[in-house]
Amino acid sequence: MNTTIQAMFGHRSIRKFTDDTISDEQLNTIIAAGIAASSSSMIQATSIIRITDPEKRAALAHLAGDQPYVAQAAEFLVFCIDYQRHYSISSEIKPEYTELALIGAIDSGIMAQNCLLAAESMGLGGVYIGGLRNNPHEVDALLKLPPYSAILFGMCLGVPAQDPQSKPRLPMALILHENEYQPLSQPLLAEYDQQTVEYYQQRSSHNKQQDWSSAVTKTLSKESRPFIAEYFHSKGLMEK
Ligand SMILES: Cc1cc2nc3c(=O)[nH]c(=O)nc-3n(C[C@H](O)[C@H](O)[C@H](O)COP(=O)(O)O)c2cc1C
Repeated sequence: MNTTIQAMFGHRSIRKFTDDTISDEQLNTIIAAGIAASSSSMIQATSIIRITDPEKRAALAHLAGDQPYVAQAAEFLVFCIDYQRHYSISSEIKPEYTELALIGAIDSGIMAQNCLLAAESMGLGGVYIGGLRNNPHEVDALLKLPPYSAILFGMCLGVPAQDPQSKPRLPMALILHENEYQPLSQPLLAEYDQQTVEYYQQRSSHNKQQDWSSAVTKTLSKESRPFIAEYFHSKGLMEK
């Protein structure tokens, strides 16, 4: 296994950080690794906002649903869809198409994962923060995002002060289909559910009695940020 693959398999989200900083050189490499990722039609519709102001960090930690690591991590980056840049080049562009928002979201996810993997390869750790979308208008106002630019998620980065276990993933046979869609294999799912029960029972913090099927059923049976379409529309995105 080469070191890139090793870093990928070593992934686990980090939510506790030491007080150590990330050097400018490290941060530049992390961001440059993100920028080096593929981009649909080279549109490059992502902006990253680095939050260095402690007051803004504290406000974002609260707006993300009181997630303290947003304030504590050495670095906090906010990944945004950005068509304002293109609109500044030409007001003739049509950023309102949902397809363009999808492109912006997909490209931003790819860029962010390059950043996280680069950080992890340096012995740093991090966690994505989708919780920013709990209060999208407030976060947007705090970051002074212009029209056609919208928040997607944040990312905490820093030196890990914890060493959590990797969470077991769905078996490959449930994810990888050949030539056509395969119906869900109940025996494989039952095996995975058992594995997740054991994981949650054994892990050192927040141990609970839960299998994956009931966890996702609970999560997906709730409303999912029903205000989010209105937020994107208010930014001139996803209207068509
Ligand atoms: C887009 C995205 C948003 C996420 N948002 C949050 C978040 O707001 N807070 C948090 O603690 N973890 C967040 N996570 C982390 C996931 O909970 C985590 O990746 C998942 O439970 C798997 O655990 P692992 O990363 O340790 O393998 C997010 C992950 C992704 C990909």
